Amino acid sequence: MHITALKSPDSRDHRSVIHPDTVKKILALPGATVSFESGIGNGINTSDQTFIDLGLKAISRDECLSQGNFIITPSSLSIDESNKIQSGSTVLGMLNPFYAVDELKALNQSRINVISMEFIPRITRAQKMDVLSSQANLAGYKAVVESFAHFEKAIPMMMTAAGTIPAAKVLVVGAGVAGLQAIATAKRMGAIVFATDVRMASKEQVESLGGKFLTVEGAENLETEGGYAKEASDDFKKKQEEILSETLKKIDIVICTALIPGKKAPVIIKEGMISNMSPGSIIYDLAAIQGGN
Ligand code: NAI
Repeated sequence: MHITALKSPDSRDHRSVIHPDTVKKILALPGATVSFESGIGNGINTSDQTFIDLGLKAISRDECLSQGNFIITPSSLSIDESNKIQSGSTVLGMLNPFYAVDELKALNQSRINVISMEFIPRITRAQKMDVLSSQANLAGYKAVVESFAHFEKAIPMMMTAAGTIPAAKVLVVGAGVAGLQAIATAKRMGAIVFATDVRMASKEQVESLGGKFLTVEGAENLETEGGYAKEASDDFKKKQEEILSETLKKIDIVICTALIPGKKAPVIIKEGMISNMSPGSIIYDLAAIQGGN
């Protein structure tokens, strides 16, 4: 079997689907040969030569598509690219299944097997393959680091002989994997952290990390059996808007992570709320790519 590993066509996406430490396991599979799109490791500070020394071959993107029997990718493939893949091959990766629907149909029409990592069930046995959680965890951490870098005041409380600067106040909207990591990271930096979610189960998790949970009064618990969020009713949205409008007056940094699987991300921070915020405040939206704020 010829396994080929693709880069993301997005120059801002530096992820590599192969790593020198783990690719050895793939090479050990009987009959497996591995090639990669040249430059794949640049974003993780690994040169083509490192992979070549391990026994892999550097080839072009087109060659990865046309020669691979098992193609690994960090992002969805274009329709044009699907047409270059041999039928009967398998594509595995983060294929954005709720949104890249036409692209998936093209793969299906070309009789290509597709394994979308986003659909790996979130059960204990499959945790090692849960790409959504690993990516969300890092995103939540990075959202805090990046937004704090833009914030021009101090994050922790600063006590000096000349006076005291209060700690920065952070609001995390959506307390899933990304949100919980954002809360933990912001707390570690000394911020005062507030959070809100439509799933009441998250209240305890927020509090266990030292965050203050904002409950939308009269809210029903909007959680599916699988633990995901359901779309909120208009009544809920109105109440949430009221509580957030009031809270945002004292918030320095908002981190939005709210998502509903398969739907456009809810718009939670409205224009009117932004005018309540102080100049110099930050809004960091992790859900922007799916609609968002
Ligand atoms: P997500 O990325 O789908 O959404 C982020 C958060 O936004 C969720 O907590 C959601 O409830 C919240 N949200 C949606 N609409 C909102 C709104 N209008 N206002 C405020 N908040 C809103 O969430 P993620 O990180 O995928 O987690 C979803 C569930 O999956 C959680 O229950 C989590 O504990 C569970 N999970 C289970 C895993 C496992 O069993 N292996 C692994 C990871 C997550």
